[in-house]
Amino acid sequence: MTIRPRRSVLYMPGSNARALEKARELDADCLILDLEDAVAPDSKDLARKQVCAAVSAGGYGRRELVIRINAPDTPWGEEDLAAAVAAGPQAILVPKVSRQEDLAGPAIAAAGAEIALWAMMETPLAILNARSIALHAEHPAAPLAAFVMGTNDLARETRAGFGESRQAMVAWLSHCVLAARAHGIDIIDGVYNDFRDEEGFRGECAQGRLLGMDGKTLIHPAQIAPCNEAFSPSRDDIAWARKIIAAFEEPENKGKGAITIEGRMVERLHRDMARRTLAIAEAMG
Ligand code: COA
Ligand code: MG
Repeated sequence: MTIRPRRSVLYMPGSNARALEKARELDADCLILDLEDAVAPDSKDLARKQVCAAVSAGGYGRRELVIRINAPDTPWGEEDLAAAVAAGPQAILVPKVSRQEDLAGPAIAAAGAEIALWAMMETPLAILNARSIALHAEHPAAPLAAFVMGTNDLARETRAGFGESRQAMVAWLSHCVLAARAHGIDIIDGVYNDFRDEEGFRGECAQGRLLGMDGKTLIHPAQIAPCNEAFSPSRDDIAWARKIIAAFEEPENKGKGAITIEGRMVERLHRDMARRTLAIAEAMG
């Protein structure tokens, strides 16, 4: 079981040279170097050049590099795609995906380059079509590896609000978690815009984790540490996982399907979950 931590996924505008440089030192698991909505139309060419030069130059260590291109039907889309494939990040993030066919062009371009695709889930149609989009995970050459929830676009497109706890969006987020799990891909939660509000941010991280998210997209370096903490197994999680594994090793429990530990019913499925918890903890160091 190889597990790639994708707890903290930091966006940065491709036009911001300082951010691209700084990101080599930041403790984020993944970096999304953005050519799309964080970049003004006048800066698109500059951003493309800077991002591709930064990816080619490397120096990002264990951080997973993802380039977010402009949608293929925009004036920049095709050039972004060709340049991103040539630069060779680990993944290309395709925005405004609404149906599986929207990944076909990027998949053809990325085929043979060992680049995965990630999909922005940010239109009403994307939510309705989540399952068929997730099916792109089975693509032989450029498979889909992750959904990224675009909650700001969803709010705009649906006219729903965020409210205190995103109650209007929970159904959409959960629906996408199901589609992602059904097809074995990761899912990263949307951003928390108010980056000076650490308490509110922590609350939303906890909510995302409860919903089954693998991590959260971030907009500011200050969000990285609390996010890593929220999406890592806690000391208690790890201790409990060890207890479960040890209990099933006991000779008297070898033949049992369900046992009791500290007054709680524990089944073999919990042992599988415990193994995953330990594997995640190990992958995160
Ligand atoms: N990635 C990398 N570095 C970042 C960063 C990011 N997303 N956001 C800020 N920084 C850096 C700044 O360059 C600055 O570095 P320095 O002090 O070494 O010069 C430092 O962190 C502190 O930045 P700060 O002054 O607090 O923020 P700001 O006012 O410069 O920028 C934003 C605020 C929101 C404009 C900026 O964080 C940003 O552009 N975020 C990403 C937006 C984005 O990509 N959106 C698209 C998807 S929703
Ligand atoms: Mg968007």
